[in-house]
Amino acid sequence: MSPLEILKYPEAQLFEKSASVSEIDGALQNQIDQMFKTLYISDGLGLAAPQVGYLQSFFIYDLSRHDDEPKHGSGPVVVLNPEIVEMEGEEIAEEGCLSIPGYFEKVRRAYRIQLKGQDREGKDIRIEAEGLAARLFQHEIDHLNGILMLDHLSSLKRNIFMRKFKKKQKYAESK
Ligand code: NI
Repeated sequence: MSPLEILKYPEAQLFEKSASVSEIDGALQNQIDQMFKTLYISDGLGLAAPQVGYLQSFFIYDLSRHDDEPKHGSGPVVVLNPEIVEMEGEEIAEEGCLSIPGYFEKVRRAYRIQLKGQDREGKDIRIEAEGLAARLFQHEIDHLNGILMLDHLSSLKRNIFMRKFKKKQKYAESK
């Protein structure tokens, strides 16, 4: 089983809205396994299905390598059809995205959230999270709606990103 290719900004599929997952079958389980392999190879914390070209509403994450002590629910976990049911507080912290490699910027997110969805067997789950995990969930759910972290930046910061990005693209083309 080989890892999947992670789509990079400005790939069109990253801006599309994913369809909800209705069929929990072998093909889906296979996609999930491939996504975990891709996540670990890329050394990421979370990966949303559209980032590997599946326009389906689910994401995976594993925060266990980030914890000093493994906590319940830190991963590896699959959340199908995630929906935020509660949001509280706010926090500004640095974020990155596997689809925008090498770019890190501060993003404002809710500090604490409650999420509902299904696990990989289709069983209803509810997860409460704060801090990093809450941030990760909001970031991944954005991907399912075709939203990137860039959409949360001030126009000034977004313009700086665009300028740098275009410069890099020009440079790559000239080689
Ligand atoms: Ni991302």
